[in-house]
Amino acid sequence: MHQSERMTGIAAPADPEGLALRFLNVRALTEALVARLSDADASLQSMDDASPAKWHLAHTTWFWETFLLREHAPGYRLHREDWAFLFNSYYEAEGARISRAARGMLSRPSLPEVLEWRGAVTAAMEPLLGNPALAGLIALGVAHEEQHIELLLTDIKHALFQNPLGAAMWPSAALTAIVPAAPLGWHTHPGGIALVGHQSEGFAFDNEGPRHRVLLEPFALADRLVTNGEWDAFIAAGGYADARLWLSDGWAWVQREKIDAPRYWRDAEHFTHQGWQARDPYAPVTHISFYEADAYASWAGARLPTEFEWEAIARGQDGAASAPAHHLACGNQLTCAGPVLPVGSPGLFGDCWQFTRSAYLPYPGFRPATGAVGEYNGKFMSGQVVLRGASCATVRGHSRPSYRNFFYPHQRWQFTGLRLAKDL
Ligand SMILES: [Fe+2]
Repeated sequence: MHQSERMTGIAAPADPEGLALRFLNVRALTEALVARLSDADASLQSMDDASPAKWHLAHTTWFWETFLLREHAPGYRLHREDWAFLFNSYYEAEGARISRAARGMLSRPSLPEVLEWRGAVTAAMEPLLGNPALAGLIALGVAHEEQHIELLLTDIKHALFQNPLGAAMWPSAALTAIVPAAPLGWHTHPGGIALVGHQSEGFAFDNEGPRHRVLLEPFALADRLVTNGEWDAFIAAGGYADARLWLSDGWAWVQREKIDAPRYWRDAEHFTHQGWQARDPYAPVTHISFYEADAYASWAGARLPTEFEWEAIARGQDGAASAPAHHLACGNQLTCAGPVLPVGSPGLFGDCWQFTRSAYLPYPGFRPATGAVGEYNGKFMSGQVVLRGASCATVRGHSRPSYRNFFYPHQRWQFTGLRLAKDL
């Protein structure tokens, strides 16, 4: 058996036609997003945490070529033997690679060359799409490319932000139809033993299992996200200058980095994929760190939820179903190649990933898959915090109640936000 077939913990989806369609859709969506970018735009790397859009296009293609075509397409020859060195991300089992910080040095291959490679790999994949033995691996590849779509959007936002003229990926749109946020309500939970982790049929990442029991005390979870206007009040109250509100690491970070507002804020505006825009005070606040989320919760007399509290409320919900409170072309999760921004939603999913106070750790009985794909999640379980839900840049259908996103506590270039919790 080849390494990539030993994928313990990754369930295969039951619907091969649906999977083939999702494969073709995700390939097309990635390319539709970069249609807005020049080769120069797509080659920018603005920080070590972010990758050039062109690199995302190429890396996702390397993934299909390495784990599917090379292993399972008879007679397949790699498009370019030497490109694995450029486009392997972190798979030690797949050999040496350029440093992450050097991805912005790749003026070549050009964007057209990478797009040509993508076309060839997409076409070569088509005979494999109906093979039930490969369904688990193909589902992993689709989910992987969906994750890179989200990173592509957040990375290019960070790159375009560096341009003093506020370069926009899409034309600006006037802020219309501001809808006041609903008063804050609460989902209550009586506590008790809850079953958490992935429990249904269908694909899930290995880090979502095994399912297991946890003990919850009675708690409440807010029925909407904290808004920009509420964050303005936190700033006006001196929240960023009051050490009592902050975790020690967070206070050190605020002082060292001179943080006094969410990322991309400037006066009453914020930077978006459409350039500088007026902030909607009723839209969810985003681009905050774990430290900021925790400090805000303390200031508000509340706390962050644990990941299991969040999941207990979300249990049984369809992560793809939540609808935005007011209409935007691409909704509060990503459904098309258009500008994304949190708009506010009555559901648990969409707009912003939500910080929990839970460390990103393995569940009881967790075993990473053997082989290269076993490097996907398990080796990152150190020093990061779990976020739940989905964001406006998450491909709709990607997330679910057991889904665990994770970032380091200081990072905030993702669409991160918060939902308050409290003890009952
Ligand atoms: Fe990747």
